[in-house]
Amino acid sequence: MPSVVIIGSQWGDEGKGKIVDFLANEANMVVRFQGGNNAGHSVKIGEDLFALHHIPSGILRPGKLAVIGNGVVIDPGVLINELDSLEDRGVSVKGLRISDRAHVIMPYHRLLDGAEERMRKGAKVGTTGRGIGPSYSDKTARLGIRMGDLVDESLLLEKLEFLVPLKQRILDAYQDGTKLNKGSIAKEYLAYGQRLKEYVTDTGALVQDALEKKRRVLFEGAQGTMLDIDHGTYPFVTSSTTVSGNAASGAGVSPLHIDDVYGVVKAYTTRVGEGPFPTELFDEIGSKIAEKGGEFGTTTGRARRCGWLDLVVTNYASRLSGFTGIAMTKIDVLGGFDEIKVCTHYTVRGKKMACFPSDLRVLKECEAKYVTLPGWEEMGEEQMRRILAKGFAELPKNMRSYVKFVEKQMRIPVVVLGLGRRRNETLDLRKRKWRARPR
Ligand code: GDP
Ligand code: IMO
Ligand code: MG
Repeated sequence: MPSVVIIGSQWGDEGKGKIVDFLANEANMVVRFQGGNNAGHSVKIGEDLFALHHIPSGILRPGKLAVIGNGVVIDPGVLINELDSLEDRGVSVKGLRISDRAHVIMPYHRLLDGAEERMRKGAKVGTTGRGIGPSYSDKTARLGIRMGDLVDESLLLEKLEFLVPLKQRILDAYQDGTKLNKGSIAKEYLAYGQRLKEYVTDTGALVQDALEKKRRVLFEGAQGTMLDIDHGTYPFVTSSTTVSGNAASGAGVSPLHIDDVYGVVKAYTTRVGEGPFPTELFDEIGSKIAEKGGEFGTTTGRARRCGWLDLVVTNYASRLSGFTGIAMTKIDVLGGFDEIKVCTHYTVRGKKMACFPSDLRVLKECEAKYVTLPGWEEMGEEQMRRILAKGFAELPKNMRSYVKFVEKQMRIPVVVLGLGRRRNETLDLRKRKWRARPR
């Protein structure tokens, strides 16, 4: 039952989509277990660029099962558009499976997301506006509608009978101005249910069955550890649990099935939306990283804030998720700098911080302390071809030192190294592939 969980170790957009697509070649199944269409996972195959929001990146590998687990929240209209556009581009979606327990993002969730942000005035979270927070809130408050409900007309109408007036009162209180119409919402969502019903099933049983048959299962995390609802920079976080512990619960299987956890570590740090970011760069180096790395959101197109790699963050992520390997991405973007800084610890009023603070007032006072490493020249096309053919030893010497420095500081090996956007621009450094932990 070899399984690998892929987790973002920073604030999202580490390149999880690319890593999942790379490893999915050898997997039988890829499972999303949390988040919704706030995620934007880009995969570049040759010159074709795909941006996935709901559907696991494994869909791009023919013959694999791509499962949307119970822990995900789904906007069915967005999912159908994603399905259609994949099919238009010749990608088969036959392998898609959707949990009947996954919660549905309703029109009032999107409206409430916007209204709550407006009410926060100066304290905006900077959400993606996709209705993620309100949908997870309703799930927890036991006011949610699940994918399985969309094929049962009387059940859906019964739920909307009390939900629509309730949500209307809240929208009115927020002075939103929208008038909800129960009939048209029911009609729209029942049509979605009809369109998607062939994919909706008990996915937990399906994943469990695959694991028992010793099939290779990849769990595809969304967002990142610092956006986790419990462990991230609350309240500037998303509304789901993004650490590896949720892979099991969000997919509907036992945690004993998890063998490996790979933390995706971008070679520098980025963040979209509001909230503290200790290694953020406000100078031309930050702008150069943003420009070279194409740091614009896959989902909202917003510019991502950029800064040096923060090992306090990645070590905290590793502690929370138990990383057994690092998938390092975008190291190519750091080519051409004279020197590169890496944050190894924080100090507050001269004192070293022992762990990542929960109090944002303390985090704001934290001063990032850096080690400076020598840079390397940008890689030319010929050099890249040689590296991809011959491996790690062909990398520029200072790039190898950078990788080794991170491995030493995190005490975990780099198992995959991303050297460019394309699928093939990746080095596989795994010593043992798909090992099943002794049990
Ligand atoms: P995700 O949300 O974690 O899947 O990451 P995104 O797809 O939102 O953002 C990562 C961006 O970096 C995408 O545009 C990827 O195509 C790109 N990318 C991923 N890995 C690499 C890499 O190793 N090098 C370069 N240059 N780009 C990469
Ligand atoms: P992937 O999977 C980066 C951020 C938003 C905002 C906060 C809350 O592509 O890495 P939400 O809409 O979730 O309520 O917004 O979380 N955010 C992301 N940032 N990558 C993501 O996903 C994100 N998903 C949410 O920008 O700050
Ligand atoms: Mg993304």
